[in-house]
Amino acid sequence: MILTDDTLKRIKKDPLKVVFRAFSKYIFGTIRYRKGNGYDAARYWHDRFNKYRDSIRGPGDEGLSEKENVEMYDQARKIFLKFCKQEKVSFATSKVLEIGPGTGFYTKILKDAGVKNYTGLDITNVAFSKLKKEHPAFKFIKRDITKSSPPERYDLVVMIDVIEHIVEEEKLKKAMENISRSLEPKGVFILAPVMQRSKKHLFYVRHWTAKDIEALFENYKISKPVTFRNGQIISIKRG
Ligand SMILES: C[S@@+](CC[C@H](N)C(=O)[O-])C[C@H]1O[C@@H](n2cnc3c(N)ncnc32)[C@H](O)[C@@H]1O
Repeated sequence: MILTDDTLKRIKKDPLKVVFRAFSKYIFGTIRYRKGNGYDAARYWHDRFNKYRDSIRGPGDEGLSEKENVEMYDQARKIFLKFCKQEKVSFATSKVLEIGPGTGFYTKILKDAGVKNYTGLDITNVAFSKLKKEHPAFKFIKRDITKSSPPERYDLVVMIDVIEHIVEEEKLKKAMENISRSLEPKGVFILAPVMQRSKKHLFYVRHWTAKDIEALFENYKISKPVTFRNGQIISIKRG
């Protein structure tokens, strides 16, 4: 385990919780979800969303309280919207694809920002009935982005807090290929988080850098990274 400032803070606050979480993540989780060189993402996310139901800790950070997660997500919402404005995203006229909507935090942000044409693509459909109730005009499809392409082409593709859960290099390459194929020529791909260093942390978490991504998007323009939570957010457009 990497002892970041954040981890040290958590140890100080509740050491028993940290030990229990470490056991459950490093030993139990690794045994239960291991598959090939990675993990069974469909099963992991299905179980996790079932466990947390409506709690923001499902898609968020299990090591933080509900209140801390709400604060963290609220910060992220502001940065996401500011970044989209900087990138001149036109929500109302864009055909939007969100990869990994989870329980729909960014789905609601996109709808409130004026998105009308929306498709959510997720490896698990466990939250789809709730999402369909909240957003009857939106489409949701169950698909693994590391295995197959989205069904159409989009003006805006949003992928927040999903990339770090693709832990194999080959799968990352395939996912980015599938995304680039689904971008309209003038389309924008908004991606977070990219991190300072590439590193595998847990069986279901691996950090990728902007350089790792750049290498997979030749002939594309990558924006200057902007701080987003503990990483950064970037946009990718055809050059
Ligand atoms: C940490 S949650 C983030 C959810 C949401 N984007 C948010 O920020 O609240 C990760 C999401 O990515 C989805 N996911 C993970 N791997 C995926 C894959 N290979 N293809 C499609 N979705 C995937 C999970 O099912 C989950 O909904």
